Amino acid sequence: MRIIIINGPNLNLLGKREPEVYGAETFEDYFSKLQFKFKDVELEYFQSNIEGELISKIQEIGFTYDGIVLNAAAYTHTSVGIGDAVKAVTTPVIEVHISNTHRREEFRHVSYISAPASGVILGFGLKSYDLAIESFLF
Ligand code: DQA
Repeated sequence: MRIIIINGPNLNLLGKREPEVYGAETFEDYFSKLQFKFKDVELEYFQSNIEGELISKIQEIGFTYDGIVLNAAAYTHTSVGIGDAVKAVTTPVIEVHISNTHRREEFRHVSYISAPASGVILGFGLKSYDLAIESFLF
């Protein structure tokens, strides 16, 4: 089972970015825990602040991997291009958010990823990623 986590802009700052919203843990530390927890899964992690790089990564692995866990961050609410890439690939995509975006500003209530995604998990903190990976295992 080959699963990739793709994180969008500013998620490289987890740990120091708005800890009251996103928590105090870095994604690298959290990712090590995920690798330990899901030993039987080939787990990869990719992060970019650049929209086109996220699209290229989805295209590159989106016909061969078993699952994509995608937190497109701010691009969730703006990017027709990332939404189209999710639609184009055959690998199922789970949209993930750390925060409950529906409890926040109105512009965060819109997602270009939700409709083409296989599922959406949000509001559970970093545990949202655990839940998304688990969803590929049953
Ligand atoms: C986020 C929510 C987005 O609205 C925001 O732009 C992010 C992170 C989340 O994981 O809660 O950068 O995707």
